[in-house]
Amino acid sequence: MNKFIIKNRKPLESSFVPEEILHRNVEVEKIERSVILPLRMGSSTNLLIHGDSGTGKTVTMKYVVSRHPEMSIFYENAISSGNFKNILISVLRSMGKVMPDRGTSYSQIFRSMSLSTSGTGVLIIVDECANAIRMDPNGLYNILRAGELYGVTLGVILVSVDDPLIYMSERERKTLGLFSGMKFSKYSEEELYSILMQRVSLSLQEGTYSEEIIRYIAEISSSFGSARVAIELLQKAAYSAEYREGGEISGEDVRTAKSMINPYLTESKLSELESDELVVLLAVCQALENSSSTDTADVYERSTSLFELYGRKPMDLPFIYRTTKKLQTLGIIEGRITGKGDRKGVEKRLTLSDVPVAILADKLRQILDRL
Ligand SMILES: Nc1ncnc2c1ncn2[C@@H]1O[C@H](COP(=O)(O)OP(=O)(O)O)[C@@H](O)[C@H]1O
Ligand SMILES: [Mg+2]
Repeated sequence: MNKFIIKNRKPLESSFVPEEILHRNVEVEKIERSVILPLRMGSSTNLLIHGDSGTGKTVTMKYVVSRHPEMSIFYENAISSGNFKNILISVLRSMGKVMPDRGTSYSQIFRSMSLSTSGTGVLIIVDECANAIRMDPNGLYNILRAGELYGVTLGVILVSVDDPLIYMSERERKTLGLFSGMKFSKYSEEELYSILMQRVSLSLQEGTYSEEIIRYIAEISSSFGSARVAIELLQKAAYSAEYREGGEISGEDVRTAKSMINPYLTESKLSELESDELVVLLAVCQALENSSSTDTADVYERSTSLFELYGRKPMDLPFIYRTTKKLQTLGIIEGRITGKGDRKGVEKRLTLSDVPVAILADKLRQILDRL
């Protein structure tokens, strides 16, 4: 019996970029045809990419970068850089040009970029760009129109979970002109299975897993369509099996892994809710911040002030009933019938299923602030 399950930990980590990525040939081909090829010919084009978490956007971008070592392609994450100017300054730094963070103008930046690349095209991929687009429309304008404004040959790929167009006003869309867009869709169970098997063969000892157990992981993650969920489940299940020195991954290891990533699963469930329903869930969280359970009347009252706070039309009591029902069906909250004592009959008490209230409430506020 094998005591060690894992032979290589790296392929189980979410930042790992495999040599071959699966099921994204169409997307890779479209990026090469619509951005890379034109850039080689000296023309700038932009592409907007969106898709749910774990659909392979980031890994596909890194893969595209690795396929063209001869080109000036720069991958930047907008969450760490903040705004578009910082992104450009960071790109320049990778080219060996150091510019001050403050007080540098776009024309200085692009002049310096032209000089560094001696006129050949540059491609900048801006991952997780939603906030930068919302907060920095002027930067967006400058980077997307750098070709016309500053005479550089610059291609830009913007990547985010939601379609970047929804963050732009009608006017911005008009001034920015036409874009091509592409959506990364959720993976099917079969696709997730093959992605998992690729990681399994790179990371696990032979004889420590069955086909059935990998299928089980694919099945659980297929409701999210996410390779991130799939790989995380595989990693945690492998660690669980190794920890108990069981010799192979069991169904129980997978269930343990699933319970460990539950807060994340809850987050994915939130994407199935309408914004008014998110407000109701936030009301549930607020009620539970000071008490171990709540009821529909309390949730109704709190929702009413929250709807006002977020500038929305208040919803009636039947809506609150329907929503708390839906939240129970999704497994986000639990309803328990209890006796009220002194002959007042029974009532339903509501609690959260498996996430800490504070974490869920924070998450909801973030989402609602964005809307
Ligand atoms: N098509 C694929 N082939 C192989 N691995 C993949 C594929 N798609 C995603 N992955 C892996 O799944 C995880 C999540 O993918 P990622 O690209 O980060 O998703 P996104 O950026 O869309 O949220 C990463 O570990 C990534 O390597
Ligand atoms: Mg990503």
